[in-house]
Amino acid sequence: MTQPAARDKRGPGAAPTSTAVARLATSWVVSGRTPRQVHFVTGKGGVGKSFVACALARRFVDAGDRVLLAQVHARDSHAALLGISPVDEDLRDVTPQLSVVNLQPAQAMREYALMTLKVEALYKAVFENRVTKTFLRFVPSLDELVMMGKLWFHAEETHDDGARRRFDRVVIDCPSTGHALKLFAIARVITETLHVGPMVDKTRQMAALFADPARSVAHLVALPEELPVNETLELLARLREEQTVHVGNVIVNATLPRLFDARARAAFGRVQGAGAGSSSDLDAVVAVGRRRLAREDLEAAQRARLLDCGHPVVDVPHLQDSPLGPDHVARAARLLGGLT
Ligand SMILES: Nc1ncnc2c1ncn2[C@@H]1O[C@H](COP(=O)(O)OP(=O)(O)OP(=O)(O)O)[C@@H](O)[C@H]1O
Ligand SMILES: [Mg+2]
Repeated sequence: MTQPAARDKRGPGAAPTSTAVARLATSWVVSGRTPRQVHFVTGKGGVGKSFVACALARRFVDAGDRVLLAQVHARDSHAALLGISPVDEDLRDVTPQLSVVNLQPAQAMREYALMTLKVEALYKAVFENRVTKTFLRFVPSLDELVMMGKLWFHAEETHDDGARRRFDRVVIDCPSTGHALKLFAIARVITETLHVGPMVDKTRQMAALFADPARSVAHLVALPEELPVNETLELLARLREEQTVHVGNVIVNATLPRLFDARARAAFGRVQGAGAGSSSDLDAVVAVGRRRLAREDLEAAQRARLLDCGHPVVDVPHLQDSPLGPDHVARAARLLGGLT
């Protein structure tokens, strides 16, 4: 198992020093694997976050790690992608190496409260009281806090002897951009707002774990299209500014294979007469080819914008149009082998 690197003692918001970054890079090169434990996956809605999160979890399982794969208050898509029974709010061991959960605020709140109050009867008296329930419904961002709290708890959880972490990796299929930013920021906001109280210490530890580049990272998934790339670059800028979580890789999902070499590209440019309204067979074929070329060029241009952002880019090709399943997840997992 890869042991997580030591915590950055300079506090949660501190940028990594060049020595820290070099140490991290060296340890990854030596072991051939990323040492980080907590991997958030986010991006614009519908870009393939769930598919990539499942592939990443599968990649860690294949490498021999014990993995927790979490969805955040989501319509379960992992069951179909992994070929397992529906994933609900109860954490479940699918195999000795893979556990899954679909975090729900009510359940996370109950677990948090039980952890604090220890006694079920007391929990019922306090949290199932109508007045408390109404009050809690109006506490802003409480849902995000308790769900992040549950993730933090499982990231820190150890076996009974305390010698080894229960999960080598925690992979989190996050909601899309705006909501994900809220999730990443919540622990930091609470610690900056409240200075004392029972919640503050734990929340400070949470914020420190998620902001520690040696232990936590967020991967951004994008499609090679203008709007998803714009949104990815905006998200990147926000995360750099807020430093609530370090950005790892940019994953360009569903890229089309490049069909034409330089000679074929030049030939398409030379062929005359293929225009709208033309009806010859050759014109029809050339028109299709040109459309495909234009699409490939557009993807390449959008991918280049992502390459410029300074984070490693990993490509996952477009696999097929019918629903994706475990075989596609396994294929994508192999492509994520170099992910840092
Ligand atoms: N590499 C790929 N090749 C082909 N289809 C893909 C690929 N990646 C994702 N898809 C398809 O795109 C759709 C969206 O994927 P997915 O559900 O993983 O996105 P998401 O970002 O999690 O969406 P949401 O924001 O709704 O949670 C699904 O139908 C999925 O099967
Ligand atoms: Mg999803």
